Amino acid sequence: MHFGPIERVPGDPILGLMESYAKDANPNKFDLGVGVYKDAMGLTPVLAAVKQAEQRLLDRQTSKTYVGGHGDSTFGQLLSELVLGSDSRLLRELRVGATQTPGGTGALRLCADFIKHCLPGRGIWLSDPTWPIHETIFATAGLKVGHYPYVGQDNRLNVPAMLAALEAVPKGDIVLLHACCHNPTGFDLSQADWKQVLDVVRRRDLLPLIDFAYQGFGDGLEQDAWAVRLFAEALPELLITSSCSKNFGLYRERTGALLVCASDAQKLLDVRSQLAFIARNLWSTPPDHGAAVVAEILGNPGLKSLWADEVEGMRLRIAQLRSGLLEALAPYGLSEHFAHIGVQRGMFSYTGLTSAQVQQLREKHSVYMVGSGRANVAGIDATRLDALAKAISEVCTA
Ligand code: LMR
Repeated sequence: MHFGPIERVPGDPILGLMESYAKDANPNKFDLGVGVYKDAMGLTPVLAAVKQAEQRLLDRQTSKTYVGGHGDSTFGQLLSELVLGSDSRLLRELRVGATQTPGGTGALRLCADFIKHCLPGRGIWLSDPTWPIHETIFATAGLKVGHYPYVGQDNRLNVPAMLAALEAVPKGDIVLLHACCHNPTGFDLSQADWKQVLDVVRRRDLLPLIDFAYQGFGDGLEQDAWAVRLFAEALPELLITSSCSKNFGLYRERTGALLVCASDAQKLLDVRSQLAFIARNLWSTPPDHGAAVVAEILGNPGLKSLWADEVEGMRLRIAQLRSGLLEALAPYGLSEHFAHIGVQRGMFSYTGLTSAQVQQLREKHSVYMVGSGRANVAGIDATRLDALAKAISEVCTA
């Protein structure tokens, strides 16, 4: 027998919630777990722009042969323009290259292996808290993982503590930053904060890795790219992971990219040769369908504007759900207590609920959220805000 001593590990803290929710027979259950957008009908629809793009691809596609190691270059170019702006100097100077990956998670893993093999000895610094999978991706790749404070026990963003910690990060280490819609907290840096972070990064000669998974869900497609573009303009080198899961609604198609900004075109080619080698050993060549859809949308002005309107619609609905929940909490005297829900951005809210309260919400009211107190606001059913507020008030006063 070979499989005797294998340790059984707990299921994924986020994906596991999908299963528990599906099994719950309560018709009045709430799914505030995994970061998936739901519309007024409680569905996660295929976007109209995606449907149209898929139809065009279906009519036109003549081959399913492999895409190259970096994926489709049109996808890479158009996604780079979306992230950095079509007038970006880096694009003109051929200083940026995109490698298509299986989702933003694939981009993170590719990046982790690149750091491990090509930048030996460098540690990576994550916000405390961060998306739990950040922790395991970098640790699994064999990197030394450190943390800088971000949101404290009081559930407030603590920029001075963050800056002080970054000052102490060893020169040359990598610091992971969330471009917008911080996962799990929803607390984002202001533009003034970003400038201070850039200042430390420059002085300490740190290499930023910006995780950009929610472009368009915070303040808008262009606005959300502000910090990424600030860093790309100011620094010679930058790593960016971009996900199309949320803003294109392509979750299961696993569509994303690792964007590398290098000091010159030759350096970029060196880095890209390594990325192609690493990717070949991880997944060989990336899945095509989602990236082909994205390229079709971004490459056609009509489809692109339909898509941008749909992203804006999702963004506004999430913002309305935030204010709606606050209004629903008001009769229970809790709107002040949860005022941060209105300040946070994107799908997620660090509610400040304790893990015991989260457990009570699940057991007594069939409200599913991550044990850290993270709620996916984009999963709230707007017609049942009062029931949700009542359940929250009950666990808060228990
Ligand atoms: C989340 O944090 O819920 C999403 O990013 C989905 C995931 O893969 O965890």
